[in-house]
Amino acid sequence: MTSQTDAQRDLIAYLDFHVEAGVDAALDEAPHDRFREPETAAPALRRGASRGAKPAARPEPPRHEAPPARSGAPRTYGQSAAAKPEEAAMDARARAREVNSLEELEALLAHFDACPLKFTAKNLAFADGNPAAKLMFIGEAPGADEDRVGKPFMGRSGQLLDRMMAAIGLDRTLAYVANVVPWRPPGNREPTPQELAICRPFLDRQIELVDPDIIVCLGSPATKAITGTKDGILKARGRFYPYKLPNREVRALATLHPAYLLRQPVQKRLAWRDFRLLRAALDGKA
Ligand code: URA
Repeated sequence: MTSQTDAQRDLIAYLDFHVEAGVDAALDEAPHDRFREPETAAPALRRGASRGAKPAARPEPPRHEAPPARSGAPRTYGQSAAAKPEEAAMDARARAREVNSLEELEALLAHFDACPLKFTAKNLAFADGNPAAKLMFIGEAPGADEDRVGKPFMGRSGQLLDRMMAAIGLDRTLAYVANVVPWRPPGNREPTPQELAICRPFLDRQIELVDPDIIVCLGSPATKAITGTKDGILKARGRFYPYKLPNREVRALATLHPAYLLRQPVQKRLAWRDFRLLRAALDGKA
């Protein structure tokens, strides 16, 4: 192995510092010094940065294909990225109603440009597991591994989730797995309320199309989104909540997120109780 020069060591330490601070996604080819940009440019750039819209001169990231031609009135996908979050959420609601299968929904999301997260993520991580399953797990958002692979729960949290499922006789052929938002938030930060609101109609439609009997909410954001509770996850977990599908009511169980359990292994005993309750519910005994 060749030894590193001081300059290389400094560079690696500098990059490590940024990664630890959560700056682990390149948004552009070249760095920008926002403090030196002219006053007049600042509002537009700020607006773009907060909504994920790119300044006009920047090229589209190559991974996002051009939107498909649609019948009826032409859609202005590029413009929708600059829309207000409420407008984007309304747009999402209208579009989510138009799709009739999970494949159509995934294709719709792949071409939906009004959520800023899309522009910093590498891939859409729509779902994993069995779409015909009667059990659906919902997590928070893709992380780096999920972003790379393009599927939810692929990294360490996913491995723990698989072990938790296996402990009650389940695997991903018996469950469908998704997230509250399908694009990775930069640096693994929590999705903002605006991002959650924009993605929500797609999640609701995804649940409707899977039509599960039982939903398992992994962690606080999923629990709050699905059950509407304001309780913290340690209070909310271990209980079933009603969830309304168009034609029936199903149950949503709140439990701890595998990522939290990796940080707080002592809490696995609580998750174990929840998973035993889940097993009993699947067996018609709870
Ligand atoms: N955490 C989540 O909430 N979802 C994933 O897909 C991965 C980690």
